Amino acid sequence: MTPTTPLDPTALPLEQKAALLSGQDFWSTPPVEAAGLPSVVLTDGPHGVRRQVGDLDQIGLLESVPATCFPPAVAVGSSWDPEVAERIGAAIGVEARAIGVPVVLGPGVNIKRSPLCGRNFEYYSEDPLLAGVLGAAHVRGQQDAGVGASVKHFAANNQETQRMQVSADVDERTLREIYLPAFERVVTEAQPATVMCAYNKVNGVYASQNRWLLTEVLREEWGFAGAVVSDWGAVDDRVAALEAGLDLQMPGDHGAGNALVVDAVRTGRLDEAVVDRSVARVAALAGYVTEPAHAADVAAFDADAHHALARELAAGCAVLLKNDGGALPLAAGQRVAVVGEFARTPRFQGGGSSHVNATRVDDALTALTAAHPGVAFAAGFTLDGSGDVAALRDEAVELARDADVTVVFAGLAESDESEGFDRTHLDLPAAQVQLIRAVAAVAPRTVVVLSSGSVVSLEGWHDDVDAVLAGFLLGQAGGSALADLLTGAADPSGRLAETIPLRLQDTPSWLNFPGEQGHVRYGEGVMVGYRHHVTTGTPVRYPFGHGLSYTTFETSDLQVTATGADSAEVAVTVTNTGGRTGRHVVQVYVATSAGPVRRPARELRAFGKVSLAPGESRTVTFALDRRAFAYWDVRESGWVVAPGEHTVQVGRSAADAVAEASLTLAGDEIVPELTLQSSVAEWFEHPVAGPQLLEGFLATMPEGAAEMHAGMLQMIGSMPMRRFAADFGAAIPTDELERLMAAARAAR
Ligand code: BGC
Repeated sequence: MTPTTPLDPTALPLEQKAALLSGQDFWSTPPVEAAGLPSVVLTDGPHGVRRQVGDLDQIGLLESVPATCFPPAVAVGSSWDPEVAERIGAAIGVEARAIGVPVVLGPGVNIKRSPLCGRNFEYYSEDPLLAGVLGAAHVRGQQDAGVGASVKHFAANNQETQRMQVSADVDERTLREIYLPAFERVVTEAQPATVMCAYNKVNGVYASQNRWLLTEVLREEWGFAGAVVSDWGAVDDRVAALEAGLDLQMPGDHGAGNALVVDAVRTGRLDEAVVDRSVARVAALAGYVTEPAHAADVAAFDADAHHALARELAAGCAVLLKNDGGALPLAAGQRVAVVGEFARTPRFQGGGSSHVNATRVDDALTALTAAHPGVAFAAGFTLDGSGDVAALRDEAVELARDADVTVVFAGLAESDESEGFDRTHLDLPAAQVQLIRAVAAVAPRTVVVLSSGSVVSLEGWHDDVDAVLAGFLLGQAGGSALADLLTGAADPSGRLAETIPLRLQDTPSWLNFPGEQGHVRYGEGVMVGYRHHVTTGTPVRYPFGHGLSYTTFETSDLQVTATGADSAEVAVTVTNTGGRTGRHVVQVYVATSAGPVRRPARELRAFGKVSLAPGESRTVTFALDRRAFAYWDVRESGWVVAPGEHTVQVGRSAADAVAEASLTLAGDEIVPELTLQSSVAEWFEHPVAGPQLLEGFLATMPEGAAEMHAGMLQMIGSMPMRRFAADFGAAIPTDELERLMAAARAAR
């Protein structure tokens, strides 16, 4: 037999092309032999591979092939370290190849709009720069290992409540400044194989059929060249979705949608070229297939090495929030009591589609006992709240009384937070709060270790304890990584990627979360997370960016130099002033009130993590480009740098600027558009039309009119020029206004 040359996929019969644009089952595209296209498996993600074999289900009820559960995004966010994200991406790539998965569905870069979002553990941060830098690094690592990524969920998917129907109603400036930049960075810097559209509507239009998002912004502005895949079940109107720019519907719907596509083409409602365009994009995913898709049930990768990697990386993610009197690290010879079921049964990942069947799980109790013989343990509580609460607590209190230091492992159970629903409060279970307080009342020293997918309230017990280590969710080696941090084998270097508020009511989305009657209004606008707290002066328990180490750092010699009309270079020296090697996160914020829109008091614009030996100093530099100073101008439909003063601040956190320097930027000269609807003030203040108008206007007015001018502008400044010129007998002839409008246009 002579081998046949594969067909160009766009030359296939229409039915086959339509079929290629939806899954053949839950996790794969159909193979098309004639076109030489293998089936492409796409599966979760984002912090480990979840390859199901046998009967398939989407929500993780069924076991999947064992794979390493790396620290979820909530932890990676706290690492502030793109290397952590990149190494996780790379290791997931290696495992995916071994398990026969060419596209892994991650990372998730949605912004943590509210600490209540049930899926915050899958997202990096409340800040778009941090989320974007980490997401891009993850994609780079995974794709360099030959496995396609899927950045998700595009866009404005910031809650689980009604996630498949709700309309996220967000103004464009807020979308551009807060909810889109992380996607933009991942797309423009790392070219992911796919982008996954969100379930929700954005301003009334399903993300899956939102042409503005999927085509105008994603492809035309950002240059995305890969395939847009639907979130699982996100397609409402298949033909509308295809036209808007969605290429692949997942999972398949047994051919129902394909038939609609074929019919739409045959009846002339859909241009076949639209089908061909998507066919080419989906066909390109076959490039990630290295071998025929197979249901591997034996993972052929170095599970030990990946577990060790998961441990090393997890240690760089936990955040030491408080450490009074050097309670940590634990000292050799101390009598240590460990309290809390989480020490023995760790909480290390979240529920839902990202749930990984871990190759093994470390618990902190075993690891601590190995490093610190003689550790005593009491469960203190049960994960489901069952049992005799008082007896469990009393047993723990007795242990604490006899120890030099008691470490309480508290947190949220997997049933408290998951994909699919949001939390309604930030509290730890009451039994745990009572336990912490009871232990702290008798223990010479109390350390609390927290495990949760998003922030929990520290109120009611924070001041009673000596140290707090927030582990969030650290993946399968989280237990040993926490032990490394507690014993001082590793130095804590995580910093908060999300604010810990004092009260839920202090969070900016409080009045508008999770919305009502099918809509969630993003009423706080760009004032998300720390942007709100630092702008309004709302006190918080711990600010974004906060985190301690066992050593100390100082910042000096901040130099900020303009490198153009709208860019600058920042140089700052960091010194390790303590007694051990540690890593410091340099956080660079920009603050300005220049320009016509309300700006957050400061915004993170660059960061870097530096490792320093005791006494060592290093000068680190950052380039701040135009976007670091810009806001989204809705009138200009673009990024604008306002002329004027901008202050660069280096912070220990968003609330604590330790050095600052100002510079004046020439910025953008905006010549605004003028119409007859523009206000009188806009006309008189216009750089081109204003002076001419004023001259002509004053010429017709009596003596003293010039002095009256300012007062007059204040009183009638908001009146549209059309009405001013007509009703008020301002004697400005229409043709003169036409001439000035033309002059204004010409100057733009
Ligand atoms: C989730 C996605 C996931 C997909 C496939 C959906 O429910 O929102 O993040 O990739 O399922 O499991």
